[in-house]
Amino acid sequence: MSKRPIIIDTDPGIDDALAIAVALFSEELEVKLITTVAGNVSLEKVTNNALRLLAFFEKDIPVAAGASAPLIEELIDASNVHGVSGMEGFDFPEPKKSLLLKENAVNAMYRTIMESEEKVTLVPIAPLTNIALLFAMYPEVKERIQEIVMMGGSASRGNKGVMSEFNVATDPEAAKMVFASGVPLVMAGLDVGWKALVLPEDTAKLLELGEVGKMAHCLFKKYRGGSFNTGLKMYDSCAIAYLLCPQMFEVVDTYIDVELCGSMTKGCTLVDLKGYLKKAPNAKVCMDINQELFRKWFLEFIGQCK
Ligand code: RIB
Ligand code: CA
Repeated sequence: MSKRPIIIDTDPGIDDALAIAVALFSEELEVKLITTVAGNVSLEKVTNNALRLLAFFEKDIPVAAGASAPLIEELIDASNVHGVSGMEGFDFPEPKKSLLLKENAVNAMYRTIMESEEKVTLVPIAPLTNIALLFAMYPEVKERIQEIVMMGGSASRGNKGVMSEFNVATDPEAAKMVFASGVPLVMAGLDVGWKALVLPEDTAKLLELGEVGKMAHCLFKKYRGGSFNTGLKMYDSCAIAYLLCPQMFEVVDTYIDVELCGSMTKGCTLVDLKGYLKKAPNAKVCMDINQELFRKWFLEFIGQCK
């Protein structure tokens, strides 16, 4: 069976790093392109981090840098969670600059999608700025996309604002455009990200899982998305887990929109589970995850890397 072609749009980012590792070493996915976007840290840093990861994983995947800022909002990064570099804690190799395309991410995504014989799945695990720009510049690309499987949003509370999740809150205008695009979309938000935990007994096992396991253990010492004792939140791996093991999730078809005008709620994802807004569903939302299965899956796949 041929591998499923995907493009990962990312802002590495410690949890991004592990999601990218699992995708790169999986037997079922073909990562055709990695695009970067300002989010956890600056565009320059996330792009260098992507190139460092590929040098470390010894994978020659093309990388294209995208938006250096959200469409409207000022960038407020998450260096408090991922460290100043965005991947604090591990001494990665130098960035493999030969993999960096001269094309920007939007043009690289457009070309990659249109050249692909099979429809491509977009896997944004970062603010949605690049994806929104892709649809604005090249709407004809939508019919060549299998679906969008994203990490972001929340049917409950937030992790950047009271009611807003980081990826959506960083660029809410972009998120609103993507949810309204008409492209089939799966949202793996905080409702599952908060439960996709690497627990203390798991982190101990990482040290026996080769170089990638050791790398993860080093990064997790600095990662502030949870803690060694309370569990480390593998937000971005939820998007990859949906692609590789969808049965891990409870999913509902519903309508999502993004609040742009609330003085205190901008960036909130309205997940309309009861149909108050009387709109047809535009997304599948992951509402729950089998935590035990996720932990087992995560360790198994990290063990397969390298
Ligand atoms: O809210 C979690 C998201 O924000 C993840 O993508 C993480 O990498 C951060 O970017
Ligand atoms: Ca991310």
